[in-house]
Amino acid sequence: MRRLWDARTPAHEVAWNVAAEADLFGDALPATPGAAPPVVLPRALAELIEAVVCHSDSERYALLYQAIWRVLCGERQLLEVSSDPLVHRLGAMAKSVRRDIHKMHAFLRFRELVDPPTSDGCSAVHYVAWFEPQHHILEAASGFFVERFRSMTWSILAPRGSLHWDRTALRVGPPAPRGEVSSSDDIEVAWRSYYESVFNPARVNPRLMRQHMPVKYWRNLPEADAISDLVRDAPRRVQEMLAREAAASARRDPRKAVAAMAEAIEQGGPRTLEELNRTIAASPPLSPGADRAVLGEGPVGAAIAFVGEQPGDQEEREGRPFVGPAGRLLDRALAEAGIDRAKAYLTNAVKHFKYEPRGKKRLHRRPNPGEVKRYRWWLQKELAFVRPRLVVALGNTALLGLTGEPLSVLKSRGPLRLSGFAGYATVHPAYLLRLPDEATREAAYGQFRDDLSRAAQLVA
Ligand code: URA
Repeated sequence: MRRLWDARTPAHEVAWNVAAEADLFGDALPATPGAAPPVVLPRALAELIEAVVCHSDSERYALLYQAIWRVLCGERQLLEVSSDPLVHRLGAMAKSVRRDIHKMHAFLRFRELVDPPTSDGCSAVHYVAWFEPQHHILEAASGFFVERFRSMTWSILAPRGSLHWDRTALRVGPPAPRGEVSSSDDIEVAWRSYYESVFNPARVNPRLMRQHMPVKYWRNLPEADAISDLVRDAPRRVQEMLAREAAASARRDPRKAVAAMAEAIEQGGPRTLEELNRTIAASPPLSPGADRAVLGEGPVGAAIAFVGEQPGDQEEREGRPFVGPAGRLLDRALAEAGIDRAKAYLTNAVKHFKYEPRGKKRLHRRPNPGEVKRYRWWLQKELAFVRPRLVVALGNTALLGLTGEPLSVLKSRGPLRLSGFAGYATVHPAYLLRLPDEATREAAYGQFRDDLSRAAQLVA
């Protein structure tokens, strides 16, 4: 095409014969030696070309060259004339290509196959999908799959070509016969259960699915009869998936973790405390720690919330906050301050127990500031659902989790402003347990209990 234009060959003098699939301005034809200046096309035309070259109509190149010819000969606004038959036809072609790409993104399903063992005896899992696009869209659609399934080895086989991703590079290959995907019943059954376990709820939009899923695509969807159950369950699974991904990215790059977590989860947005808790429970720790998350406890709408540091050994075993030694001291102080624990909300800045194994024991390790900050988004969301009138920070870690600032409770003790809540800072009950002598401990405990009484008065 470039050569044709350089030679100023009018569109009507060219007879196109589409034999092989070549890129419009690609390197199939080298540019003219001693070349003419670069061809600058309006952006809209360039975008149109990008889509229309993928169309299966054998006239696509002829039509595109006509449009290019007219634009370069002076009709710069050609694409704005939607009544022009050429513009109309190219527009419809581009639309059809884009729809085809959308369908490939939505309806392609990978099947898990095990590659034959290599000479060292290893065999690898390979995900294979068969798809029959209407147009030549394999490469145009490939970025989506590379992005989402970067860490898997996969192939997409199609009647007109194939794509192969080996976790580092994408290769475009020849067409593959359907037989390579295998359609025997037992693979279909295995595929169905595989599908149920890897079903990607983030892709589900039931309205669009109903609107856009022609029967043609269903024959490659052996899981079709599982879809209604999966769709119903999708929002919850989206949450869990986003949280898992956010946690994984937190481990890969802790500096970006807070933003990534917030952004990823905001996309699906937990709508209730229950949804948030399911997400937290399904997530691996955001810092090195025990796998089981200890969730907050207490009624939504509790007037007062207490935020501790992180669950301890006993809390992690029982799956409840403040049930170990520090919890028992807190219970005593709450009772003496006239606060009914069952009506309060108790949670922690960090939801997983960080510890150091020592023989059979697990010794508590304080979460570092980076780790506390990674959990902040969860804490803020949690409190936003509970909506307490007052949030009591127990100790420095809780203060950091609540404010994002490295404040000391001994300096900030008493009422404080938190964004969105009235706050109150006091010491952590475990601090009292660590004080060396009885007398100091008793005095500090008295102050702690007085703090809780003041907090109760503030709420009243
Ligand atoms: N310490 C905390 O901060 N939280 C608990 O749940 C238990 C001990």
